[in-house]
Amino acid sequence: MTYDEIRNAFLGYFQSHGHKIVPSASLIPNDPTLLFTVAGMVPWKGILQGLEPAFAPRVADVQKCIRAGGKHNDLDEVGFDGRHHTFFEMLGNWSFGDYFKEESIAMSWELLTRVIGFDPKRIVVTTHETDDESTEIWRRVAGLDAIRLGDHDNWWAAGDTGPCGPDTEIFYDMGADIPGGLPGAPDEGGRYVELWNNVFMQYDRDANGNLTKLPKQNVDTGAGLERWAAILQGKTDNYETDLFQHLMDATESVVGVHRNAENISSFKVITDHLRSVGFAIADGVIPSNTDRGYVIRRILRRAMRHGQMLGARGALLSKLYPALVAEMGAAYPELAREQGRVVEILQNEENAFADMLSNGMKMLDEHRDNAGNSRVLAGDVAFKLYDTYGFPLDLTQMILREYGMTVDVDGFNAAMATQRERSRADTRGTKTLWESRGELPATDDAAKYAPCDNMSATVLAILRDGEFVNVAESGDMVEIAMDKTPFYGTQGGQVGDNGELYRDGVSIMSVTDTSRAGNVVVHRGVLTQKLSVGDTVTPIVNAAMRTQITRAHTATHLLQAALRRVLGPDVEQRGSKVSPDSVRFDFSFGRAMTADEKTAVENLVNEWINADMPVSHEEMPIDAAKSRGAMALFGEKYGDTVRVITAGDVSCELCGGTHVYHTGEIIRAHINKEKSISSGIRRITMSVGTMA
Ligand code: ALA
Repeated sequence: MTYDEIRNAFLGYFQSHGHKIVPSASLIPNDPTLLFTVAGMVPWKGILQGLEPAFAPRVADVQKCIRAGGKHNDLDEVGFDGRHHTFFEMLGNWSFGDYFKEESIAMSWELLTRVIGFDPKRIVVTTHETDDESTEIWRRVAGLDAIRLGDHDNWWAAGDTGPCGPDTEIFYDMGADIPGGLPGAPDEGGRYVELWNNVFMQYDRDANGNLTKLPKQNVDTGAGLERWAAILQGKTDNYETDLFQHLMDATESVVGVHRNAENISSFKVITDHLRSVGFAIADGVIPSNTDRGYVIRRILRRAMRHGQMLGARGALLSKLYPALVAEMGAAYPELAREQGRVVEILQNEENAFADMLSNGMKMLDEHRDNAGNSRVLAGDVAFKLYDTYGFPLDLTQMILREYGMTVDVDGFNAAMATQRERSRADTRGTKTLWESRGELPATDDAAKYAPCDNMSATVLAILRDGEFVNVAESGDMVEIAMDKTPFYGTQGGQVGDNGELYRDGVSIMSVTDTSRAGNVVVHRGVLTQKLSVGDTVTPIVNAAMRTQITRAHTATHLLQAALRRVLGPDVEQRGSKVSPDSVRFDFSFGRAMTADEKTAVENLVNEWINADMPVSHEEMPIDAAKSRGAMALFGEKYGDTVRVITAGDVSCELCGGTHVYHTGEIIRAHINKEKSISSGIRRITMSVGTMA
């Protein structure tokens, strides 16, 4: 049976047994305790706990799952055998307080042996050591003597807290020629493959580990589609099934190499990772340096490393994505719907990492060659690979494993901690130095609202290595204050500008950060020429980045207005961070937003963007602003004259930041996440512009 045939047979069986068939939920769970949807039950957690009403007593589906990070993590196993995946499809059926053990076991048995056609003689089952009832049912329904095991094998929970219970697992004997003992044996090996897990969800575990009985007795089952396909297609390796073979064919044509016994594990890694990365981005994950975005970035970089081992350079998954759409797009229409966006994100990621990968590999190879008899790579080298070349620690570990080497992880963590401390001390330290220096006039930064390219500014002070100097040399990391500047120094949640300082038409410093110390604007960067106090320079703001920051700032105002419309006037801003094309907004609100509320807010913001409303920037006395009803930040001090930013008739706020002139310039907004950060305070992260 092909994948499509198995999905249809499974859903058809449960439909004819009174189950409501639903499409797969997103890989991004509506659950702060999980990074990804790790099992079919994740979307139903609230129902299983009795917190949400069940929309049907019996439900079945095929759910997209990722297990790569957190408690459920199979990333390290992929490629080494034929059974592990970071992405897989889970067939599942549920009873929400309807049928229980008897019917659940009977249906599993009937579907497996009479409908699908697994050989009943090769089926082995396990039950929890305390569960006499299931054990007895198996004997009666199937004539099987269950193997009875403890919590380690026969107890299932999605996370540290939440619904859980004893389970019964169904295994298939792949044959005596495959090594491996019975389930629960010390040498489990590969002979007995788990086909299906039926969990009898009867308890809720709280944060202290206490179990309380759930109001209803539920059934939660999960079966790995890939394993069923392998057995039904007469294979012992999931990657030999139709779906993976087609993806491997596509991989061959992209990398220009045929698969063979030596390189097959790279083909497995690439096809597995194509699925997790492709499906995750289609569901809205953006590769980044935190949380699930980082998991996806790590998986993508690992796939690229295997592409490189096969001789491919640069783009890999972005070229393979169309093959994934061809293979799985019928079952998951979102793959095709999101194709343009996914491919663009993949291309950006792959372009950014391609050079770092080859340069980092050179460095790693040198250190391996020089390692002599030591089988451990120094922590600071692993850290440099991470910090300079973007090698996630687990990528370095995986590469070294091929050479029988490991990483000094404690040393890596220590190097990371030192660097964090240094950069914290840097910002703390220099700000105080600037503030205590005195004698400097306030920087005239009026031009920040309309940066021009021909300003002549005079250098007033240079800070290097904690000391103010009159002259600094090429290569020095410095901070500079000038009499005037078009650069925006971090303030009011808006991040500082990047850009260049020019002298006589030549760039002498890339400004990588702009901050404020009191009224002085401080530009930080590395000099590429000698610079003295009194020199005249032309500061030029990075316009592309400024555009991205500016549209994010106006979008923040629209977001606040939309939140107040949808959630009510209790919503008040409690903090924000406005970065290029991205917004972090903290606000007072007593509970989690519902999915409908999030959609309503996002739609409203996009409606206002599409309406291309004019945005006015006006200076006026504070009293005039107040009588206009301009919103001010709670607890913030304002001068006598204030700036008022008004977007159409929907938003009017006091604000010193930079803003667009028409809301259409924002292009689009997309809410990525809404979560609690402390009691009564929620945080929304939103992408805008091309990022959205
Ligand atoms: N939720 C159970 C599992 O994932 C069925 O194994």
